[in-house]
Amino acid sequence: MTPFEFTSGPSRVVFGPGILDRLPDEVTRAGGTRVLVLSGSGTAEAAGRAAALLGPLLGGHFAGAAMHTPVGVTSTALELVRSLDVDCLVSVGGGSATGLGKALAVRTGLPQLTVPTTYAGSEVTPVLGETDQNGKTTRSAPEILPRAVLYDVELTLGLPVALSVTSGVNAMAHAVEALYSPDANPATDTMAVRALTLMSRALPRIVADPGDVEARSDALTAAWLAGICLGTVRMGLHHKLCHFLGGKYGMPHAATHTVLLPQVLAFNPAATPDVLGRIAGALGVRDAAAGLHDLIAGWGGPTSLRELGLAEEAADDDLLRAAYRGTRPPGAAAVPDFGALTEQVVASFAATPDPRTRVLLTDLVRVLHEFTNRHDLTQREWETAVGFLTRTGQLCDDTRQEFVLLSDTLGVSSMVDLLTNSRTPDTTPSAVLGPFYVPGPPAEQQGADIARGLPGTPLWVDVRIEDVDGKPVPGAVTDVWQSNEDGFYDVQLPELAGPVLRARFTSDADGRVRFWSILPSEYPIPDDGPVGQLLAAAGRHPYRAPHLHFMISAPGHRRLVTQLFVAGGAYLDSDTVFGVKEELIVDFGPGTGEPPDGRELTEWNKVVYTFRIAGEQQ
Ligand code: BEZ
Ligand code: FE
Repeated sequence: MTPFEFTSGPSRVVFGPGILDRLPDEVTRAGGTRVLVLSGSGTAEAAGRAAALLGPLLGGHFAGAAMHTPVGVTSTALELVRSLDVDCLVSVGGGSATGLGKALAVRTGLPQLTVPTTYAGSEVTPVLGETDQNGKTTRSAPEILPRAVLYDVELTLGLPVALSVTSGVNAMAHAVEALYSPDANPATDTMAVRALTLMSRALPRIVADPGDVEARSDALTAAWLAGICLGTVRMGLHHKLCHFLGGKYGMPHAATHTVLLPQVLAFNPAATPDVLGRIAGALGVRDAAAGLHDLIAGWGGPTSLRELGLAEEAADDDLLRAAYRGTRPPGAAAVPDFGALTEQVVASFAATPDPRTRVLLTDLVRVLHEFTNRHDLTQREWETAVGFLTRTGQLCDDTRQEFVLLSDTLGVSSMVDLLTNSRTPDTTPSAVLGPFYVPGPPAEQQGADIARGLPGTPLWVDVRIEDVDGKPVPGAVTDVWQSNEDGFYDVQLPELAGPVLRARFTSDADGRVRFWSILPSEYPIPDDGPVGQLLAAAGRHPYRAPHLHFMISAPGHRRLVTQLFVAGGAYLDSDTVFGVKEELIVDFGPGTGEPPDGRELTEWNKVVYTFRIAGEQQ
């Protein structure tokens, strides 16, 4: 385990299309009565809308915010704060507007709200970076964190594509560096991976259609999540380099992030293979650095510092030289329209009328696409898989269900079973049905011998069926079936005249079912088909642990399909269909005293068990 510390800031987030309308309420909530609206010149229109919405709450509008928060601009705005006598700040725009809001808030203690129009993420951090003639300084304080953030998706629709890409990659940088931060923790890990997935899927859609509201919403969500990472864990080499280049050469912030991120991933020893793998998985590429480089190029983003205007002499080490030239990091190519293809297929199911069907189908598509891309599936591998599934289907008929066997050996049947059991925790766990059940087995009286003369160690079975309150369930139809001494079911033995080692009993007034049989033994599942080939290819054995099957049906109760496993039997811990559950492992040991029903036996075994079945409503 890895110890960690996590402090999250007390900032309020309201998110949605048209959420700007809530600005007056949010200002009042923060205690503001007279507001100074802050923006850069580029977002003056959105800021104008905010000002208009504020009505009588508006004190003034300052549209001079500038990149890297120069202290000179802050001083000018500060005079305005004083002369207009405002008691609340609302910044509207990207990192520049947010930065100015923070710079004023830390100097005046006034509450600040922010309405981001880019993916900068700084709106949810308590960090302020400022520049003066000596370069950039950064500080952190609780007052720097905005009180409330209003994420209005509609305000981002007009963000130019080029800026959307660089700003989006800037947000991705926050997520990437959070993953290898010394302060990384489960919360930021989760947010970072989600941010990378959302942003890398959103940007190609925004490039294709800047007005795509869903894509914009995903990108803004990603920016927020990545911003929380930025605000809660320390950033690393990538941010240091970007700040250095920004402070020293005035390089544009988001674009510099965009160029450097793939290069830092390729060079940075802190980015361990584990972290790189997670980043690649989230981005849907095979190689984090090369894949990200290809994605950015595909979205039309900058890939070299040269094109951003850096002087060649400034690039004075390996990493910066690679960034200067835009050298592609080594590694497998990203599938350029991976995300777009997935979204196209997902969208094709958007109108599925049944909501559950829609969720299952679209998520199946996402998982299959991600798997296909992650493993760089070849045409031959795809053909092998299709051939395997075809043979699996061709083997299926009324008596052979190779698909169920495949599900069993992949553990999917038992997974469904576990989920089902988890819904009725007070009842006996179920277990897979298996292919050897035959509906309508011969009805037998209590005490009958279902082995019908087959050799084996005699076994007395004495089970009781009760409900969740412990009351006996009489009249429960109880089907039982099992393998013989050699591990075969009757249906596998054509020489047998009729059903053997299977029967139907009805529980008596005490909910009991008693009968004679023989000890079941371990056996291989049918392994002469594709599933057998799969097990052989994986070096897996085909054996099931010895067990006795039950199917119990009673009016007003849920049907229970389960198995009792012989304690101490073979393969209990490697059952090939993963069907063994601790509560179902039972003593099948030697019986003591006189055998029941007056049978004359020197050696016999016995199993006693109580099944608890759920009511229909449970
Ligand atoms: C069985 O127990 O009969 C069984 C279950 C799953 C696959 C094969 C056999
Ligand atoms: Fe079985």
